[in-house]
Amino acid sequence: MSDAKTHTMTLTDNATGDSWELPVMAGSVGPKVIDIRKLYGQTGYFTYDPGFTSTASCDSAITYIDGDKGVLLHRGYSIEDLAENCDFMEVCYLLLRGELPNEAERKDFEKTITYHTMVHEQLLNFYRGFRRDAHPMAIMVGVVGALSAFYHDSTDINDPEQRMIASHRLVAKMPTLAAMAYKYSVGQPFMYPRNNLSYAANFMQMTFGVPAEEYEISPAVERAMDRIFILHADHEQNASTSTVRIAGSSGANPFACISAGISSLWGPAHGGANEAVLSMLHQIGHKKNIPEFLERAKDKNDPFRLMGFGHRVYKNYDPRAGVLKKSCDEVLKELGVEDPLLELAQELEQIALKDDYFVERKLFPNVDFYSGIILKAIGFPTSMFTVLFALARTVGWVAQWNEMIADPYQKIGRPRQLFLGYDKREFPPKSKR
Ligand code: SDX
Repeated sequence: MSDAKTHTMTLTDNATGDSWELPVMAGSVGPKVIDIRKLYGQTGYFTYDPGFTSTASCDSAITYIDGDKGVLLHRGYSIEDLAENCDFMEVCYLLLRGELPNEAERKDFEKTITYHTMVHEQLLNFYRGFRRDAHPMAIMVGVVGALSAFYHDSTDINDPEQRMIASHRLVAKMPTLAAMAYKYSVGQPFMYPRNNLSYAANFMQMTFGVPAEEYEISPAVERAMDRIFILHADHEQNASTSTVRIAGSSGANPFACISAGISSLWGPAHGGANEAVLSMLHQIGHKKNIPEFLERAKDKNDPFRLMGFGHRVYKNYDPRAGVLKKSCDEVLKELGVEDPLLELAQELEQIALKDDYFVERKLFPNVDFYSGIILKAIGFPTSMFTVLFALARTVGWVAQWNEMIADPYQKIGRPRQLFLGYDKREFPPKSKR
């Protein structure tokens, strides 16, 4: 907790002339905060901030975003450096432990994760309760929440050892559960994890491998998958991370909290946007239709939005989109895939970035704009795109959940409201209704 009070700010009620001094605190970088923890007690006023556009909900030292500059740092390292020089296991270690691992630490951590990738055999029956055409995100919400029914020995949130085991289990088992959701939807047998493969390669073989033959993975695809995981790993206090934190603030077990995070991520305004981008590109169909769809995106009466564009924090190019755009070209070339949707997306980006509506509102491509094109080229159905986002984001959710539990200042999350309903009124007898 940074109690680094830099100075105070005076709040004056111009209706009554009352004034109050509010402490101002500074973090290590980024906007200062006005400490309003005692505001209601001092003034009898709440603050009002639907969507928390100007509200810091917690302290954190994990991820910093400068939306104006398009900067994303994990524990101080830029996302570009991490995507270029690390693999996902190193980034997981960094997010969870706070520092990049040396080779021995990395090997030990990867072994720990590897030996948690199998899931309880009973879980296979759990999948069989779903319809084959169930959306894989619906399966993930259910199955991840159900993990607390299988791993009781790591649900005591007050035991650091159990918190660590639950954290490792969640990071390790998400690829297995995600691959099983895909296999179940296509009617193929589940594949077991292989301990001799990397995290990304293991996920690919569990997803696309079959018992009938050895699965060959292209190193370029393995690297692209690993990089996609890195780019989605964590992102400060976004909607799903805030969901995980507020669920965890009541003392709920980590599996239930991550299941809540998956539910929130599913929304098309959040992680569901990668799937929505592909549907949008199919809907646009051809670059000659771009102007019509851009007009629709600007029309307040039209629910159509340019999916994969805009961001609550980035008012500049999302640095992750930049890395993904580059990867797009590499992966499609490596796979020899010609996807007209990539050209359409690039054309759409070019036109939108010159359009006053998007320029004035600082709407740039975000992480979801290009990711779907790579995932489609690799062979994933669009219904799996947000599952992959959840798979990668699990380490960020778990790191933020651990930080929240360890924060001595953390309280149960319980916002207030600006009430617009009836004050107390007489109860009407049935005859008078
Ligand atoms: C993710 O928070 C995170 O960090 C999330 C994420 C992560 O890693 O966790 O980065 C992942 O969720 C990325 C965002 C994916 N979502 C989409 O691509 C869906 C399309 N984007 C929009 O729904 C929107 O941009 C949001 C939800 C992302 C952000 O919305 P805000 O911050 O609430 O902004 P807003 O809706 O108030 O928009 C401001 C203006 C409005 O116009 P005016 O009322 O000022 O005239 O910009 C317009 C909006 O109508 N606008 C868009 C638009 N996004 C915003 N207009 C057309 N198309 C869009 N995509």
